[in-house]
Amino acid sequence: MSYSTPLLIAAKRDGQELSDAAITWLLEAYDRGDVADEQMSAMLMAIFFRGLGSRELGTWTKAMINSGERLNLRGLSRPTVDKHSTGGVGDKISLILAPLVAACGAAVPQLSGRGLGHTGGTLDKLESIPGWRAALTNDEVYQQLENVGAVICAAGSGLAPVDRRLYALRDVTATVESIPLIASSIMSKKIAEGTDALVLDVKVGRGAFLKDRESSLRLARTMVDLGTSHGVHTVAQLTNMDEPLGRSVGNALEVEESVEVLRGGGPRDVRDLTVALASIMLELVGLDDNPAARLDDGSAYDVYRAMISAQGGDPDAPLARSAHRETIVAPRAGVVQSIDAYRVGVAAWRQGAGRARKEDPVSAGAGVEVLVRRGDHVETGQPLFVLHADDEARLRAGHDEIVGALMIGDEPVVETPLLFERVDATS
Ligand code: URA
Repeated sequence: MSYSTPLLIAAKRDGQELSDAAITWLLEAYDRGDVADEQMSAMLMAIFFRGLGSRELGTWTKAMINSGERLNLRGLSRPTVDKHSTGGVGDKISLILAPLVAACGAAVPQLSGRGLGHTGGTLDKLESIPGWRAALTNDEVYQQLENVGAVICAAGSGLAPVDRRLYALRDVTATVESIPLIASSIMSKKIAEGTDALVLDVKVGRGAFLKDRESSLRLARTMVDLGTSHGVHTVAQLTNMDEPLGRSVGNALEVEESVEVLRGGGPRDVRDLTVALASIMLELVGLDDNPAARLDDGSAYDVYRAMISAQGGDPDAPLARSAHRETIVAPRAGVVQSIDAYRVGVAAWRQGAGRARKEDPVSAGAGVEVLVRRGDHVETGQPLFVLHADDEARLRAGHDEIVGALMIGDEPVVETPLLFERVDATS
């Protein structure tokens, strides 16, 4: 059966529901090249305004999954569980969480992407480790999961390949910020990855992709329902992304901080969030272990070292450092009222830690050290941030962004929670 693409676009534009057969045809025809980019762009804009109902979204996601392969991890000796974060500033949790959960007895297949814009990418962080390789074959992923228990690597081009083209179109047609399009994009790749269970860390706040709690909750519910309907045991946890996570933002800087946490130390918020997410992951696959104890006894760090070595990396190699630094100091004494995660993320990005276009290189050493926390009392002249960049121009670009990122006042501040709502499958 064939459809008229303009009629399908008009139907969605006018708020009608599309049939399952029409959605499947549309995505297959787009994949074959029989629907043009400009037609798909119009359809994406129609979906942006009109949305997709839950049946339509299920079919849309299934068609995206069916555009490629699905990994089969069923033969592994351990249950599989993954985590996906919607992206934050200083969010290095995956680097710690994957080996930690593996140390507790699960297999963690973290097939990841690169960073775009103000949030960093897990692969970019790990690529600051000399020799480390992001591209693995499906066989290598399987073997590493069996032997080490954790893999963080690039999602191969075979998983939901139509998403790559849709995402590129969304990027240039202002249709990224649509809940059904975000949910289907993320979940098609995670379902195709073949994991038994999945925890979604849905960030809320200034440094998050979606700033308000209500949209984040809707995205979380949509993704949990999609995962559940495809047989993946899925839970979402909303978490606070108003302030940067931890003290470091930038690729090598975040690897260093992750190692501190893996060795039982590191900033409290990074450790607490990692342990909270690990506990949910273990619950989902029915494992009863104590993740905090695995950080303290060194077993998570041992798995991290094995995971890095298995992908050609040297966990003992010194990491890159940027040659240019600047310390930003407090202009007055008082209490730190807020540290704007978005502005810190943009500063690190401008300094070279992130990319504006997919093909841009990133600097391993660039980034921002955040030396104080919200609620700290600071004196005039006390260092607040250290900026790192590979040249003076980038350092200046970061400086211009960071100066307005931190507010100092006289009032004590009320502590805000790190974890908000948890969204479970509806039974
Ligand atoms: N990440 C994705 O993979 N897709 C989106 O649409 C947004 C974030």
